[in-house]
Amino acid sequence: CEELSKSLSLIGKTVLVTAGPTYEPIDPVRFIGNHSSGKMGYDIANELARLGAEVILVSGPTNQKVKDKRVKVISIMSAMEMYTVCHDYFEQVDAVIAAAAVADYRPRHIANQKIKKNTEEFVIEMDKNPDILASLGAIKKEQFLIGFALETENEIEHAKQKITKKNLDLIVLNSLNDKGAGFGKPTNKVTFIDKDFNIQPMELKSKEDVAKDIVQKIVEHYE
Ligand code: CTP
Ligand code: CA
Repeated sequence: CEELSKSLSLIGKTVLVTAGPTYEPIDPVRFIGNHSSGKMGYDIANELARLGAEVILVSGPTNQKVKDKRVKVISIMSAMEMYTVCHDYFEQVDAVIAAAAVADYRPRHIANQKIKKNTEEFVIEMDKNPDILASLGAIKKEQFLIGFALETENEIEHAKQKITKKNLDLIVLNSLNDKGAGFGKPTNKVTFIDKDFNIQPMELKSKEDVAKDIVQKIVEHYE
């Protein structure tokens, strides 16, 4: 039955999804974070599970909930924690979708006690976080790697550079120039670019429908 095989087309596949923001600690009560709601990653995880995949969802702090018990949620706070978990699981997965808004930098020092407002000025020194997706791209074997690119200028060019630099199979370009797209909105307008630099602009859609389109790219890859 074609309908049934279509509806369970990812049975036997394991997919790792990263989602949400990361929180980079400053002291026991403070962090540097971002506005990622996690919705895109959770919608992707739910859709993968609906099609029969085993899903490992490595998630930063969000209010999102998963619908399906085929999704194993591993909660992390910082980029460094997300890095460790992703590498722990990478060998056993068939594909990765990196939807997390990973902090590019983390405070160099984490104070053991709450920092007091003793000075007029306060400077936080920061170090670059490892690029989780690029580090997976560098060691990938058969894994199909999908990344996101959030750009505000020279979108296509920057996204292509990320494909090459991170050794991706596909990138989902999110342009903040598009009205109705981006953080906190229910809709998104994306452009797919594959590793051969084929460009496929998509319509403005609900994030659920964008998630379906992304998951279809994995389905097509295994067809
Ligand atoms: N990403 C990651 N680890 C990081 C930073 C980003 O895995 N430390 C992933 C994101 O999950 C996303 C992709 O890389 O899938 C691109 O993220 P983006 O912020 O657009 O690009 P960066 O490589 O961080 O470059 P820049 O912010 O300078 O544009
Ligand atoms: Ca970044």
